[in-house]
Amino acid sequence: MQVGVGREQRAGERRVAATPETVQQLTALGLHLLVESGAGTEAGFADAAFKEAGATVISELPFEALDVLLHVRPITPEAAARLRPGTVTIGLASPATELRTVRALAAAGITSFALELLPRISRAQSMDALSSQSLVTGYRAVLEAAVRYPRFFPLYMTAAGTVPPARVLVLGAGVAGLQAIGTAKRLGARVSANDIRAASADEVASMGGTFINLDVDAAAEGTGGYARALGEDRAQRQRSLLAPHVAAADILITTAAIPGRPAPLLVTTAMVASMRAGSVVVDLAAESGGNVEGVIAGQDVQVPVDGGSVTLVGLQDAASAMPSDASRLFARNVSNFLALMTDGGLVAPDFDDDVVAGTCLTHGGAVRHAPTAAALETEA
Ligand SMILES: NC(=O)c1ccc[n+]([C@@H]2O[C@H](COP(=O)([O-])OP(=O)(O)OC[C@H]3O[C@@H](n4cnc5c(N)ncnc54)[C@H](O)[C@@H]3O)[C@@H](O)[C@H]2O)c1
Repeated sequence: MQVGVGREQRAGERRVAATPETVQQLTALGLHLLVESGAGTEAGFADAAFKEAGATVISELPFEALDVLLHVRPITPEAAARLRPGTVTIGLASPATELRTVRALAAAGITSFALELLPRISRAQSMDALSSQSLVTGYRAVLEAAVRYPRFFPLYMTAAGTVPPARVLVLGAGVAGLQAIGTAKRLGARVSANDIRAASADEVASMGGTFINLDVDAAAEGTGGYARALGEDRAQRQRSLLAPHVAAADILITTAAIPGRPAPLLVTTAMVASMRAGSVVVDLAAESGGNVEGVIAGQDVQVPVDGGSVTLVGLQDAASAMPSDASRLFARNVSNFLALMTDGGLVAPDFDDDVVAGTCLTHGGAVRHAPTAAALETEA
């Protein structure tokens, strides 16, 4: 069966959905990999390395002849329309926002898998692209803050005087937040964190952070380990309880998210304005509306404060900014998922398997993910 890996189409996307290592893994399963020339160049994987691993490198991907298409970002509706009915696609599909593509995938009879929908159970951990990419994003967020911060992160005691350590506050202690805590700790900062899921307190401590208990947490735990949105009165209470912690922080990193909903507003402009001049705020939720008021995805905004300004960073495409390792992890997720459905060189999804069924977005002309199907009906 022919498995295609194309150059990503979205501007600024530097990752690739396969690496020479995963080409070898998939070739050993009896699949034939077709890699579009240059697909891995920006991630540091040359055409020659793909060829050596057993792939055929071609100038343009023959969409009409593929049995499987691997991708990072959602494919375009036009690309979906070129695939044959029954073709399997695997990658991030952003079903909540890319409704045109979902409609095109269903209309073309594609069996599409959206890795965002992968059930978060231990058996599926090796396929969990949200986790692997959040790890990259959390790490990168701290580095983005550090290069903009006009002071050191670690404590220095030198002959010329003592430099105090930076105080880093992380809001939202999921996969990205925990990675941000660990990275800031390794740089020598003093780190504290808050999450509305009480269960995250131990995880924060295990990464070396101090958990801030705000007493708004009851019943914030949703299903599958995710958070539930707070009502507006509790959200306001959370903001007022967070205010003194934000004012005391030099670096604020926000990662709070609720699946399928806009990001919760945790930090108002007044709270940012209470920080010291030179402080840096990195909002990882900028693309989904932002945790910080006034954030602009993909831009730095200077918020005036006494004696200078605070830099508010709308972090965008952070995983793509580290394309080599982000692709290495992502490609393994994709390859492990494809391997789950491959037997004797044939790709045949088994919908009795919870991991396969749970990740499926469209199949046989229908949208199988109920919330996306409902969103499409509302839109129609
Ligand atoms: N078992 C598995 O395979 C597996 C894999 C990955 C993650 N998980 C778990 O899934 C859960 C979600 O992780 P994620 O990184 O995808 O989360 P996410 O990206 O959906 O959200 C990030 C964090 O923001 C927090 N948050 C939401 N609203 C908030 C608010 N108002 N204030 C403060 N924090 C708020 C959430 O609780 C979460 O920890 C975690 O419990 C994680 O450990 C499990």
